[in-house]
Amino acid sequence: MTPDSLKREAAARALDFVEPGMRLGLGTGSTAKHFVELLGERVRGGLDVLGVPTSEATRADAAAAGIRLSTLDDTPALDLTVDGADEIAPDLSVIKGGGGALLREKIVAAASARMIVIADESKWVEMLGRFPLPVEVVPFGLAPTRLAVEAAAEAVGCPGPARLRRTREGHAFVTDGGHLILDLMLGRIPQPAALAARLAAVPGVVEHGLFLGLVSVAIIAGASGIRIENV
Ligand code: 5RP
Repeated sequence: MTPDSLKREAAARALDFVEPGMRLGLGTGSTAKHFVELLGERVRGGLDVLGVPTSEATRADAAAAGIRLSTLDDTPALDLTVDGADEIAPDLSVIKGGGGALLREKIVAAASARMIVIADESKWVEMLGRFPLPVEVVPFGLAPTRLAVEAAAEAVGCPGPARLRRTREGHAFVTDGGHLILDLMLGRIPQPAALAARLAAVPGVVEHGLFLGLVSVAIIAGASGIRIENV
């Protein structure tokens, strides 16, 4: 079993939570891409759902899959969002944003009655923080924003550098919203809620990748099968 086949298995299991007529948030990343492809197969078989994508990449994938699409402006309340995650802790707090779509992902998740995360078992952790925490920031005043982000992490017991995310070509990575991403290298985040509050209070921070209290179900695919975690 490859990690990618496990991602597809988790995505396939998430289809069991989809009902006809649902308004669905469509996540971003390689696992969410599997879900969009599999959902597209169901749609072509007659399932009627409406999708709101969390990125331009997912919009393109969903359109190609034949899924009827909307925006949050036209469809402000969603029934369910299915998305991937970079890390998932036992209380279903998660880190997202490895693909750079955290801002739209969080807005869509917050507009949804339920959020399901789908992942291979490598994403399951006892404590968040090994994965660098993405923090989306405006380009203006990047240097002081970076210092304030690092100070916020230090103040809650998890000091670490904030690195500007770059593309493979070495350019600054720019999100769909025209912002930059600082990846906070913390190792462990003992107090996620305290860190989330500190980061949200930094001028220049648009959003951070800590999704706390948003996920109600995690579908984790591993070598020994699929496990479903609820809160
Ligand atoms: C994108 C995300 C992704 O859901 C997260 O990075 C997981 O990606 P993948 O499914 O490719 O492992 O948050 O912003």
